[in-house]
Amino acid sequence: MNKEKTLIIAVSHQKGGTGKTTTVCNLAACLGMAGDGLRVAVIDLDGQGTATTHLNGASYFPSGSYQAIVGTKYASEVALPTGIKNCFIVPSTNSLVLCEMDHAVRGLSFKEVRQHLLSDPDAFDVLIIDCPSGLGIISTIAIAIADIVVIPTPPLAFAEEPLRATVAYIDNLQKNSDHEIAIVLTMYKTGIPSQEKLVRRIRNEWGKSVVDVEIPFETLVEDAVESNAVIIEFEKRSATALAYVKLTEDLGNRLGLKLDFSKLTVDSLGTNLVHGLGKLMEAQTATRSSVPPKEEAPHIDEQPLPVTPTVVREGGSEETAAAAKSDKRPLEKAGPFKLIYKFLAVIILAASFLVASVFIF
Ligand SMILES: Nc1ncnc2c1ncn2[C@@H]1O[C@H](COP(=O)(O)OP(=O)(O)O)[C@@H](O)[C@H]1O
Ligand SMILES: [Mg+2]
Repeated sequence: MNKEKTLIIAVSHQKGGTGKTTTVCNLAACLGMAGDGLRVAVIDLDGQGTATTHLNGASYFPSGSYQAIVGTKYASEVALPTGIKNCFIVPSTNSLVLCEMDHAVRGLSFKEVRQHLLSDPDAFDVLIIDCPSGLGIISTIAIAIADIVVIPTPPLAFAEEPLRATVAYIDNLQKNSDHEIAIVLTMYKTGIPSQEKLVRRIRNEWGKSVVDVEIPFETLVEDAVESNAVIIEFEKRSATALAYVKLTEDLGNRLGLKLDFSKLTVDSLGTNLVHGLGKLMEAQTATRSSVPPKEEAPHIDEQPLPVTPTVVREGGSEETAAAAKSDKRPLEKAGPFKLIYKFLAVIILAASFLVASVFIF
């Protein structure tokens, strides 16, 4: 690769469980495999060390990402192999756990951290920083020194406000530099109206900053984790693997990287997967255009049927709120004893009437 400097990609989101680590590991693997000798390292800045375990298998290291950030070591000195071509991991260490209160971290200047990473004598071509969830000091440093911030977000209501907060935070932090953001829709389940609506809203709001491909939800991703493999190694033909290849291509174009996907898109049987990639994109584009654009409210003569709210009683079964409010409960709800009592009451009333008539007449 004809490079001038190391590219820094930060992967961040205020919300946890949005697919940050999964995206980091798959992106790093795809870049390592598709780059023409491109050397890629993941810097695991999450104290949980998920990326470290996923890419290296082990989980305790005396030095790693903390040292690379505070400037006592170069990333290349503490990087470990992952078994994936040209892909390395700068592991998470215990020092990260309390680093929000650490003076060495709090006193860091963003410029110096970036300078230190770029001045590594054996510098990597691409550094991908896996941030912890939240917008604490570690994420702030990563965002401030990055050339691009990738924000993986599932189309879920609970992730929408944190996404907006993340984008606003990045804009504010980098307002004087010409930075880029790339929002990646992850764990997308098509056919769920609420998710499709949210995808549309995110695309409408952030336009070109949203990457074209959507990463689908697939249980294979968990299977891959179980097997200590990233999805591109585990099942190349899966929709998720193809989507990560497409994402790598998109980010590569945004960053001006020279990539060759031919090795990645041919499976062990020699079948070219480019066709599958094209089909995936076609299907995603079709889903997007099949849902009506923008108008969210139903048409006036297509008002949904009123939904009867249900109430659940303590220790009881569900019944509709309307039935609970009304005194006229259905008879079968009264139970057998109540029916017998009612029957006896009618008999006694009739007998009393007869006795009273005998006395009167
Ligand atoms: N595309 C996907 N399909 C299914 N499960 C996924 C997918 N992406 C991530 N996951 C799972 O979701 C969980 C959270 O993902 P992770 O990457 O650890 O999120 P974060 O780093 O943002 O906390 C993990 O169990 C991961 O295996
Ligand atoms: Mg993570």
